[in-house]
Amino acid sequence: MLKEIYQPNPEFSANAAIKNMDEYNALMDKAKEDYEGFWKSFADEKIDWFKPYTKVLDESNAPFVRWFEGGKLNVAYQCVDRHIEKRKNKAAIIFEGDRGDKQVITYLELYYNVNRFANLLKEDFGVKKGDRVVIYMPMIPEAAYAMLACARIGAIHSIVFGGFSAEALRDRIEDAEAKVVITADGAYRKEKPYMLKPVVDEALSHGNSPVQKVLVVERNNEDVEWVAGRDYSYNELIKSKAAKCDPEPMDSEDPLFLLYTSGSTGKPKGVQHNQAGYILWAQMTMEWVFDVKENDTYWCTADIGWITGHTYIVYGPLAMGATTVMFEGVITYPDAGRPWKMVEEYKINQFYTAPTAIRVLHKTGENEPNNYDISSLKVLGTVGEPIDPPAWKWYYEVVGQSKCAIVDTYWQTETGGHIVSPLPGATPIKPACATLPLPGIMAEILDPQTGAKVGAGESGYMCITRPWPSQIRGVWGDPERFKKSYFGDVKKDGVPVYFTGDGANYDENGYITITGRTDDVINVSGHRMGTAEVEAAIKKHPNVAEVAVVGKPHEIKGEGIFAYVVLKSDNSVADEVEEVKAINKVIQKEIGNIAICDDIVFAPGLPKTRSGKIMRRILRAIAKSEAVTQDISTLEDPSVVEKIENMIKCKC
Ligand code: PRX
Repeated sequence: MLKEIYQPNPEFSANAAIKNMDEYNALMDKAKEDYEGFWKSFADEKIDWFKPYTKVLDESNAPFVRWFEGGKLNVAYQCVDRHIEKRKNKAAIIFEGDRGDKQVITYLELYYNVNRFANLLKEDFGVKKGDRVVIYMPMIPEAAYAMLACARIGAIHSIVFGGFSAEALRDRIEDAEAKVVITADGAYRKEKPYMLKPVVDEALSHGNSPVQKVLVVERNNEDVEWVAGRDYSYNELIKSKAAKCDPEPMDSEDPLFLLYTSGSTGKPKGVQHNQAGYILWAQMTMEWVFDVKENDTYWCTADIGWITGHTYIVYGPLAMGATTVMFEGVITYPDAGRPWKMVEEYKINQFYTAPTAIRVLHKTGENEPNNYDISSLKVLGTVGEPIDPPAWKWYYEVVGQSKCAIVDTYWQTETGGHIVSPLPGATPIKPACATLPLPGIMAEILDPQTGAKVGAGESGYMCITRPWPSQIRGVWGDPERFKKSYFGDVKKDGVPVYFTGDGANYDENGYITITGRTDDVINVSGHRMGTAEVEAAIKKHPNVAEVAVVGKPHEIKGEGIFAYVVLKSDNSVADEVEEVKAINKVIQKEIGNIAICDDIVFAPGLPKTRSGKIMRRILRAIAKSEAVTQDISTLEDPSVVEKIENMIKCKC
């Protein structure tokens, strides 16, 4: 384990937004002394209000809090229009396609594209303020236009990651009661076309879909089916649209978007983010954590289907007027030099990716960064999962040439933006450690029983004890689930506080290290996966009687998916390999390739208490080939533990 502390690069610090720990502490002190005054000063400085707000924070109905009440703004205006005066010819988006095709979209072009798109949605599709629009798109600029067009007219977008299956897409469409889907015929991956529109067709093919119209961006021009009266070509309709559409004045607390994420039950939650608080924190964290300067080029490799893509490809960078790179392809294709070639070509200054990607790039192209001039890099970021020390070291020494700060950003879909992260010019960094809460974020590790802050060297639950502007505002259509999921487990001084679901510990300097989820959510390649969701999918296989899914450490993906399957008694496994394939096929259909299991074992039974609760801790230990240390005498059938252990030993 690396123990060193790395001081910020002094040359970088001299120009940084936050230059040293004194500045950090001063900001934190200000937030502690006058919490509302702290946020007010930034809201006044950063947001172009159409109408000023009257109250900074209303906690009277906590945990349903309201920020900047009475204010009116428009997020698309904040991200685009207001930059026209000073930055009209600046690149807003630099797009690189899978096959190396390139496009630079200036702020003025972005303005026209978003306006036209907004007019299309309004005029041709009848989309109004508050309507839900599902976006199922590849990583192409039109995906960003679609998001901003929705924001412009006050429609609520719900992006569904393009790797999700038709079933998963349908669930999300139905839960949000979306009336429009925006998609593409398909896109390119590793120079070959892949398709999205057929998945949309399938998702809409059963029952009474709420979707009335589908807009199709023709990206790869492969043949797709068109349903008359429902499906329309974006490329055709956009031609006749006027390039001006007035931005809808939105209340600070009107919803901006929904993003479905996994929880501990089988059904994903529609995490709701609202306007002002979200965009404020997206912009502030861009400025603080990535320290993007006017002439910088910033690249985040995420997909817009995840929160990282929302906040740190589209909303955050554009709100601050930065140049954001959007990449359609696969970072290891045609080889593991692809990202470094792009860094060289676009002179990228900030590079933000997930530890899984770093591990793959390290493993498959350890020396590739040395083949390119990547000296433009200043800040390197990681997100989504813990980074292991060897990957960190390679990222720091080889990619960052031992001069770039590494910001290990800890946050979640629900937090809207970073909450614990180093500041590149100020925070001495410790490898694989998220370090300190950002100024204004009252993140504390609490003892789940007493609610007291844990001490140095101790672990507890990662909580946030005061509301913050970009926090989740609700679970779509389910206020009870919102309260129960986030404000049910930990109380500080008798008051429920936001619990992230993660465990964490403090070191002797008060630095925070995230140790992983405390619930049944696993983290596969930086993507959150509810084990209950995978179990629900596997149960759809007709031969399956019972199933339990757990996470297992995986060299590249961080965690892999391990399923224990009990088959129905009259269906013993004739051909295990075929049965595994069949189960994975069901998963592919129900969720998508991202949920395919790394291991499936056919167990004679599951370790359960007498009340029927599956003892997952035992199953996790067995999956990791660890000794089972729990007391198993109280299980309904203790012998099942040994039987499973023996089965796994035989397999290894
Ligand atoms: O477990 C934490 C992990 O990812 C979860 C959030 O997943 P999601 O909502 O999909 O958002 C991912 C992108 C922000 C968290 O509950 N996680 C996120 N960042 C880190 C992390 N674990 C360790 N270190 C991080 N930097």
